[in-house]
Amino acid sequence: MKFIRRRKRLLGALMLGAAALIAGSASAQAAGETQVSVTIRADLPGPVINPNVYGQFAEHLGAGIYEGVWVGEKSPIPNTHGYRNDVVEALKNLKVPVVRWPGGCFADEYHWRDGIGPREKRPVKVNTHWGGVPETNEFGTHEFMAFAEMIGAKVYISGNVGSGSVQEMADWMEYMTSDTVSTLANERRKNGRDKPWEVHYFGIGNETWGCGGNMTPEWYANLFRQYATYVKAPRGKRPVIVASGDRDNRTEWVPVLTKMIHRDMDAISHHYYTIPTGVWAKKGNSINFPESEWISTLRNTLRIDEFIVNNVKILDENDPQGKIAFYVDEWGTWYDPEPGREPGFLWQHNTLRDALVAGLNFNVFHRHAKRVQMTNIAQMVNVLQAMILTEGAKMALTPTYHVFHMYIPFQGATYLPTEITTPEYKLGDATVPAVSVSAARDTSGKLQLALVNLDPHREAVVTTKITGGAATQAQGRMLTAKAMDARNTVDAPESIYPVKISAERKGSTLVVRLPAKSVSVLRLQ
Ligand code: AHR
Repeated sequence: MKFIRRRKRLLGALMLGAAALIAGSASAQAAGETQVSVTIRADLPGPVINPNVYGQFAEHLGAGIYEGVWVGEKSPIPNTHGYRNDVVEALKNLKVPVVRWPGGCFADEYHWRDGIGPREKRPVKVNTHWGGVPETNEFGTHEFMAFAEMIGAKVYISGNVGSGSVQEMADWMEYMTSDTVSTLANERRKNGRDKPWEVHYFGIGNETWGCGGNMTPEWYANLFRQYATYVKAPRGKRPVIVASGDRDNRTEWVPVLTKMIHRDMDAISHHYYTIPTGVWAKKGNSINFPESEWISTLRNTLRIDEFIVNNVKILDENDPQGKIAFYVDEWGTWYDPEPGREPGFLWQHNTLRDALVAGLNFNVFHRHAKRVQMTNIAQMVNVLQAMILTEGAKMALTPTYHVFHMYIPFQGATYLPTEITTPEYKLGDATVPAVSVSAARDTSGKLQLALVNLDPHREAVVTTKITGGAATQAQGRMLTAKAMDARNTVDAPESIYPVKISAERKGSTLVVRLPAKSVSVLRLQ
């Protein structure tokens, strides 16, 4: 069975490869091909790309946790202790380094005591942010920690500042991390967990400028000082403490936080969602979109570069020693609600366009590896730019999942600067570079090259040379499809998946042909 499936995939891959070639040469004739040159500066190694740049975010929102991860032990959906087997397996394969939980906006209404003890006795609350649906609290601290252990990820807990108290936050930390015989540690043991957990990252509130309390940066900075004082863990186990920061193009919070907070703040978070139209009230559709929204989505994605630059400039001035990291702990596409689905569940299709958005974001994040030490895509399953979509017992891996998988070699790799000469891809008033690039030396010493061809019509011929290194061949994987909104669905889960790609040696360079609208990652040797 497995063999037939693999053969089918291989045949599909060859056909897709051939189709890409034919489509590529046809469009190359019709529209011309793009000539791009890249130099990898292996002689100028930069910082290590923190694996956490590939982090994820899982909120109690729509089918993100319930159905997406947790179905309960009695579910007919195959599960282990309540966690769906297919999703856990897929996430393990993705080497997820860290998961942020329980929100999002949900975090500032979450009271951890609701989610411990016998499940049938846990209070049912209303998830006021996301659809006003009942929140059963079946998935709480123990369930989340066990889930993170199952997929091999570190944990990033978002604490409640908006509607919680300092005492509540302090107690939660003690409950999770204490190895003493304190009443809270013993309560944890009684609830089934003897050994304390390690909390690697702890966020003091979320979007405190909005759903997290509508605060001013000054007000929040004072609250941060107070709350963070009491986030205590055993010696040597202090979590990285994250302050809630700004959003989009804004730079108001970093200066205030860096001036007013003198201890405890290890990172400042920032949120940026890609919206095709740039207008929240009419964002654009996740499928059947016009080319104008293909290019505007990619252009809006690339703006993250300028937002990071502007905030990091302030950090460099106020924190010249580089102690404070900059986390983009929510990013991804956000489209109009899907007709027929609860708008508050933020369910959307995930297409080839989302795959390019992921690749472009990674290429930007790598460039800022010194300060950008964590990012968390929103969100893991069934919500916004998800890795995985489920429907009952069925599951599909999205194009975004495949790009995360292709980029795994960049986790922990050493960033290498690149120089690129690329034409532009233009439509109407919108202009973006035709090709985006990123390179790094992976943990095994091999060079990795990521290339995104943003142009939906033209193949790109990329000629690469290396300064301070050499390579005679390159192989890797490439993701493309005929349609801009090609996608996997639970009924057709293998419509789009990565296929092989390789480069040709030409003198001292390597030449690779990138199909139109594609993402590739190649290993050079
Ligand atoms: O990811 C969905 C929501 O977007 C999060 O809850 C919130 O932090 C942001 O506004």
